[in-house]
Amino acid sequence: MFSTTLIEALRKAQHVVVFTGAGVSAESGIPTFRDSLTGLWERFDATSLATPEAFAADPELVWGWYEWRRMKVLQAHPNPGHRAIAALERNIPRLTLVTQNVDDLHERAGNQAVIHLHGSLHAPRCFDCGRSPDIPLSAPEEPEGGRRLPPPRCTVCGGPLRPGVVWFGESLPTADLSAAFEAAENCDLLISVGTSGMVYPAAEVPALAWRAGAIVVHVNPQSHPCQQEREYALPGLAGELLPRLIEQAFGTADGV
Ligand code: NAD
Ligand code: APR
Ligand code: ZN
Repeated sequence: MFSTTLIEALRKAQHVVVFTGAGVSAESGIPTFRDSLTGLWERFDATSLATPEAFAADPELVWGWYEWRRMKVLQAHPNPGHRAIAALERNIPRLTLVTQNVDDLHERAGNQAVIHLHGSLHAPRCFDCGRSPDIPLSAPEEPEGGRRLPPPRCTVCGGPLRPGVVWFGESLPTADLSAAFEAAENCDLLISVGTSGMVYPAAEVPALAWRAGAIVVHVNPQSHPCQQEREYALPGLAGELLPRLIEQAFGTADGV
């Protein structure tokens, strides 16, 4: 099924980085950003939603859209792709999981430490003073009549809460980005799952691993041009390919 070289490399690897994008959560029913079929941005103009300026101009529109996404995440469940990555962590000495996703499906699948390069839907903070709310957000409802919802207010300064995600034009959390870059430069093998690789600096992670001598594997139904040695493209869905890869390498379905 998979090349023996790849299977042997996975079995021998001391440190594997798994780098994920929206595609790993697609089979959990969470729309991706740029997929031609389901891409979120197809139906929304990113510049009208995922920027600080957009939030300042229309907090109810932006908050409502992210609450809709948070609701989708709360209704979703980890899929076999997420569970296979958690199983991989149990079968190798060290796994570093770096995600561009703002959902918590990797954690709910059982992965312990997840590096979120673009923040999290579950970590809102005050737009003005940056404080986190002292009470967790209540479960969102499907906003009536479209996606407008007034954001809750900061109990300290009265400012509006904003989603805890990294917006276009904002910098990524420095410590997380450095940790991701460091892991990529010191791993034996990197598996990139479900990302279009269009957004930097996150998209730098697989290239850093390859340049440092690691084997790089791309799991994506869209074909990925592999021009170089030590690079593999596994065309297909994460929820189907990853369980089979783990099964073939470690002989365990391991609850995937
Ligand atoms: P961008 O081109 O504006 O650059 C992202 C930010 O990272 C910039 O501030 C840039 O200075 C900084 N940066 C670039 N290279 C860097 C490096 N090597 N080391 C450290 N910092 C570096 O990116 P963008 O397309 O405008 O998006 C900004 C971020 O917001 C991206 O990571 C994007 O994925 C994210 N985003 C998140 C969502 C969401 O809903 N989670 C939506 C849209 C965008
Ligand atoms: N299994 C594997 N890959 C999949 C699946 C699946 N079931 N379904 C879709 N994909 C692939 C698509 O082929 C596409 O290449 O996932 C990728 C999704 O790409 P994007 O929608 O661009 O998502 P992502 O790469 O995570 O975007 C990066 O951009 O807008 C910002 O912050 C946002 O984190 C996001 C970043
Ligand atoms: Zn505040």
